[in-house]
Amino acid sequence: MIPGMGAVATTLIAGVEAVRRGLAKPIGSISQMGTIRLGKRTDANSPLIRDFVPLATLDDLVFTGWDIFGGNLYDAAKTAQVLERDQLEQIRPFLESIEPMPAAFNQHYVKRLTAKKQKVGKNKCDLANQIRNDIAEFKSKTDRQVMIWTGSTEIFLEQTAVHQSLAAFEKGLVDDDPGIAPSQLYAWAALKEGIPFINGAPNLTVDIPAMNELSRKMNAPICGKDFKTGQTLIKSVLAPAFKTRMLGVSGWYSTNILGNRDGEVLDDPESFKTKEESKLGLLEMILQPDLYPDLYKDLYHKVRINYYPPRGDNKEGWDNIDIFGWLGYPMQLKVDFLCRDSILAAPLALDLCLFMDLAARTSSLRGLGIQEWLSFYFKAPDSAKGVYPEHDLFIQSMKMKNTLRHIMGEDLITHLGLEYYEG
Ligand SMILES: NC(=O)c1ccc[n+]([C@@H]2O[C@H](COP(=O)([O-])OP(=O)(O)OC[C@H]3O[C@@H](n4cnc5c(N)ncnc54)[C@H](O)[C@@H]3O)[C@@H](O)[C@H]2O)c1
Repeated sequence: MIPGMGAVATTLIAGVEAVRRGLAKPIGSISQMGTIRLGKRTDANSPLIRDFVPLATLDDLVFTGWDIFGGNLYDAAKTAQVLERDQLEQIRPFLESIEPMPAAFNQHYVKRLTAKKQKVGKNKCDLANQIRNDIAEFKSKTDRQVMIWTGSTEIFLEQTAVHQSLAAFEKGLVDDDPGIAPSQLYAWAALKEGIPFINGAPNLTVDIPAMNELSRKMNAPICGKDFKTGQTLIKSVLAPAFKTRMLGVSGWYSTNILGNRDGEVLDDPESFKTKEESKLGLLEMILQPDLYPDLYKDLYHKVRINYYPPRGDNKEGWDNIDIFGWLGYPMQLKVDFLCRDSILAAPLALDLCLFMDLAARTSSLRGLGIQEWLSFYFKAPDSAKGVYPEHDLFIQSMKMKNTLRHIMGEDLITHLGLEYYEG
């Protein structure tokens, strides 16, 4: 169930259908193409993850969602201009068969969009209950459900009193508290219905004590936020490399141009602030300047995103990184990533839906609320209270694979490797 059926959502859904029909391969999806080593290196036993853990198959998936635009997903995919016309034509009837339901929307939270189709209700509680009714209807046609927000980036919201407990939040729904954004109406409705909720955007949404409480109470998992797709993915690879080698970093300047609707929404300073916060956190978390003041305490980190329509969904991200080595001698690294936003995001959205559904079926995981083992997928991973989130891509990957081994009762892999030298 997908609130926000724009570029990422249509690329996900069209992609799943293309793969189901044998027209394309699910490149970039760990759940579909990744393998997992079991036992010792000498055992040569590395099954596909999807053969190892009981994931839903692509044939099992049914899609629905909400948006403020009229029309069906074929129209939405054409507007998004991510996939080639020929490819869309091959699956046109399927895409035409899915029409987003009217959304719970409020322009105060996404300034650059104007709704054509939206729910009307007497207060936020009424709107959230209308979403619950939509969910109940979908539940009657399906066995299990997962909700993933691929809606727009909302304005920057900080936690207030209304977010601090479930009781305060539910009162705030009735009182139309301005601290409650539309994405939180969907999240509340999903968790209330016992459905896992994934946040592909940097919005505050479930990042509040009230949602944590609801998630645990309902055994409905939540996880981090904001897909880690392009520039931040590369950052979470390069920064750990510098740190591992004890190389200093004095400056990291990141800039992007993109021309899709996401870029247009992010052109609004209030939405950009939400994205900026999400992108800025990770360097400090990875580099730990408190632990290594000589290397990182003066790091200057800047992130810019500029809306540039000619590029559409094909984003270009530049990084200028000023580093220093032995005796403080400076060096530079430049990265120019000509990527495709939704092509990078769609497989992450797929994996998250399948893994969150698995988490909801796993007794040792579902009651925990936050699924930290899925940090791998997020710019802003979530973690237990008092524990800093893990941003290093390779630690995240190890954590995810060890969690899958744990779910299936296999030995965890520590990479100690002494056993190969015994006897
Ligand atoms: N690489 C990536 O593409 C990437 C990476 C990280 C995060 N994201 C985030 O994912 C989200 C989706 O990106 P996109 O490129 O698909 O954007 P998009 O603008 O194409 O799609 C977002 C859709 O959400 C809809 N929407 C907005 N508010 C809504 C509401 N209250 N209810 C229902 N629908 C609503 C919009 O009408 C739009 O169709 C954005 O927040 C973006 O920042 C994308």
